[in-house]
Amino acid sequence: MDHTEVLKPQTLEELIRILHQIFSSDKVNIEEVQNIVESYESNPLEWMKYAKFDPYRYTRNLVDEGNGKFNLMILCWGEGHGSSIHDHTNSHCFLKILQGNLKETQYEWPQKKSNGAMIKTSEGVLKLNQCAYINDSIGLHRVENPSHTEPAVSLHLYSPPFDHCQTFDQRTGHKNTVKMTFWSKYGEHASVVSVNVGMWSMGGRGNG
Ligand code: SIN
Repeated sequence: MDHTEVLKPQTLEELIRILHQIFSSDKVNIEEVQNIVESYESNPLEWMKYAKFDPYRYTRNLVDEGNGKFNLMILCWGEGHGSSIHDHTNSHCFLKILQGNLKETQYEWPQKKSNGAMIKTSEGVLKLNQCAYINDSIGLHRVENPSHTEPAVSLHLYSPPFDHCQTFDQRTGHKNTVKMTFWSKYGEHASVVSVNVGMWSMGGRGNG
């Protein structure tokens, strides 16, 4: 298949099928993935079975394991929920808005010996259907639902998949390694109770 043509998936299922094709090759064309993910028009009827909220913190809901090449998941953000500043464990991160808005703030990696506030490099609000991209060479980020009245839902693709990352304290740059797990898988609640450990920010009513 020629990956340079612009494909517009008509459904979430078709998007997943196209992503399987793209990621079966060893080389990832970031712009191509970003364009295809962005061109899918969010249809809540297609993703609502994965969108499981928790009143206290954002949830991570696995949609597809991408033949071991990527993890595709839906994240559900209640009002004011947010993640901690984190890295992406040397993976690609694509983040698309399915409902509401999310604020993304990017930071520089802290200097090895620094013990001070982390340096912000950009901030912006991602709108419906927009797809952002970040990896560790671009920097670190945190994501939050800035609304006090509307929930938000986002689609995340991580390639290769990872189940731990580093979180950073905004005031000191100190880091912690945290394990990331799922609130639900394939539309069914995961049986594990300890989910998302350590990734919630103060805004998300969790630890920093
Ligand atoms: C994010 O803030 O980008 C979400 C992190 C996650 O995958 O839990």
